[in-house]
Amino acid sequence: MQTILVVGATGTVGAPVAQRLLADGFAVRLLVRDIDRARAILGREHGYQYAPGQLGDRCSLDRALRGCFGVHVSVIGGSDPATLERVELHGTAMLADLAAEHGLHRLTYVSGFLAREDLAAAHLESRVKLAAERAIARPSRLTSRPATGGYRVGTRLPYAASASISRADLAAFLLDQLDDHAATRGIVEITT
Ligand SMILES: NC(=O)c1ccc[n+]([C@@H]2O[C@H](COP(=O)([O-])OP(=O)(O)OC[C@H]3O[C@@H](n4cnc5c(N)ncnc54)[C@H](OP(=O)(O)O)[C@@H]3O)[C@@H](O)[C@H]2O)c1
Repeated sequence: MQTILVVGATGTVGAPVAQRLLADGFAVRLLVRDIDRARAILGREHGYQYAPGQLGDRCSLDRALRGCFGVHVSVIGGSDPATLERVELHGTAMLADLAAEHGLHRLTYVSGFLAREDLAAAHLESRVKLAAERAIARPSRLTSRPATGGYRVGTRLPYAASASISRADLAAFLLDQLDDHAATRGIVEITT
């Protein structure tokens, strides 16, 4: 059974990704800062493996990545410039480097629609995410609606403030990226 490490599993994006991974038969390891809090949020019945740690802490990342096939990252790393840069930019880059050293085959990272050269200039979090991006999905506004499968994936999709996609559809898209047969897409926008 392949193991996927999820970073940000207590978040609104990471939780459905972790659930979907379990449902699809993966072993799911969660990197969490507070295991009790994570269990309280995610429920105790699911059979997740918990790895204590955080982005930026090389030892905990190294331990958590051992034996994994892939890693998923969706975090909001802080609100002040220094913390955002430390966690989202340098923390994610460290994770990506370690994942490569461990020979991991897949890395998915959820960014934001605004994290583009043409849109990010005035938006600190988007500038940091833009710098952290590698093979990445940029969702529009996220909703809790059920999955429909009716979403668009592309580059330079027109931006509309009203555009949205459900977290369930985003999770399904991210899982497709773990499939050996999925094309490598690079950075894409995703919306309905
Ligand atoms: N929500 C939306 O509508 C939306 C739309 C488009 C794009 N996005 C993007 O989707 C991504 C995830 O958003 P979200 O809504 O899921 O955020 P969220 O609900 O605020 O969750 C943030 C996650 O980041 C984790 N985290 C924070 N600092 C960390 C660190 N140093 N090490 C490890 N984990 C850390 C948190 O863990 P703790 O439990 O330990 O705090 C939590 O699991 C972000 O990049 C966001 O910009 C969101």
